[in-house]
Amino acid sequence: MKKIIIALVMVSFSGLLSAAGKLHLDEANIDLTDKASLQRGAKLFTNYCLNCHSASFMRYNRMGKDLGISDILVEENLIFSDDKVGDLMKVAMTTEDGASWFGTPPPDLSVISRAKGAGSVGADWLYTYFRSFYVDESRPFGVNNTVFKDVGMPHVLWELQGMQKLLNADEVKHGATPEFAMVSTGSMTVEEYDTAARDLTNFLVYVGEPSQLKRLGLGPWVLAFLVFFFFVSYALKKEYWKDVH
Ligand code: HEC
Repeated sequence: MKKIIIALVMVSFSGLLSAAGKLHLDEANIDLTDKASLQRGAKLFTNYCLNCHSASFMRYNRMGKDLGISDILVEENLIFSDDKVGDLMKVAMTTEDGASWFGTPPPDLSVISRAKGAGSVGADWLYTYFRSFYVDESRPFGVNNTVFKDVGMPHVLWELQGMQKLLNADEVKHGATPEFAMVSTGSMTVEEYDTAARDLTNFLVYVGEPSQLKRLGLGPWVLAFLVFFFFVSYALKKEYWKDVH
C-alpha cells in the first residue's frame, strides 16, 4: 500500500513538473526553398546579430553561393567588419569581453536551431524567442523572454518590433499562452515583424545544416530517375522473358 501511494504521488508530481516546464511555442512554418526569405534572414543576421554572435561554421561566400547572392553583393551588403568574402563568419568580440558585458558570452549560432530541439521544435523555439521579449525592469537590459527566463541578451530587434509587456506572467509560468500588449511601436507592423522573425529562423536553420538546401533540390531529380529507371527495367524484363513463355 505504502509503495502504491509513493508511486501515485511521484506520478502526479512528475505530471505537475512537466506541466510547469512546458513552454508555449508558436509554429515557425519555415520554407528552406524560399530563397528570398533566406536572403532577408541573412541580412537581418549580419546586421543585428553578427556583432555579438558568430556563425563560425559558415563562410560568407558559401552563404552567398547557397542563397544566390554574388560575392560583390555579399561584400557590399552583408560584411560590416574588415572580413573578406572567403572568411568564416566570426565576431571580433572575445569570449572574455562577452562574458563580462553580458554575464554569459553570446554563443556561436552555427547549430543553434538543432541545439534547441529536433525536427521543427528548434525552429519553433527560435521563432517564438524572437517574438517573446517583454519589458522587465528587474533585468539588466530591461527585458525578459517567455521562452528564455532571465535571458542575458538585450532585445536587439526592438527598433523593428517595438516593446511589449507581458499581461499574464503568472499563468505563463504554468504553461499558458503568453499574451502581450505593445507599449511602444517599432518600424514594422506585427505581420512584418512576424515575417522578419520567420526569415531569421529560416536562415539559422539553413546555417545549421547548409547541405539541406542541396538535398531538397536533389529530391525531385532522384524521384524522376527512379520513375525513368522503372520503365527501363520493365522494358528489360519484357525483353528477357519474351521467349520463355
Ligand atoms: C549585444 C549582443 C547580442 C546581440 C546583438 C545578439 N545577441 Fe543573442 N545573445 C546574446 C547573449 C549575451 C546571449 C546569452 C544569453 C544567456 O545565456 O542568458 C544570447 C543568446 C542568444 C540565443 C540563445 C542561445 C542559447 O544557447 O540558448 C539565441 C538563439 C540568440 N542569442 C540569437 C540572436 C540573434 C538571432 C540575434 C540577432 C537578431 C542576436 N542573438 C543578437 C547577445 C547578443
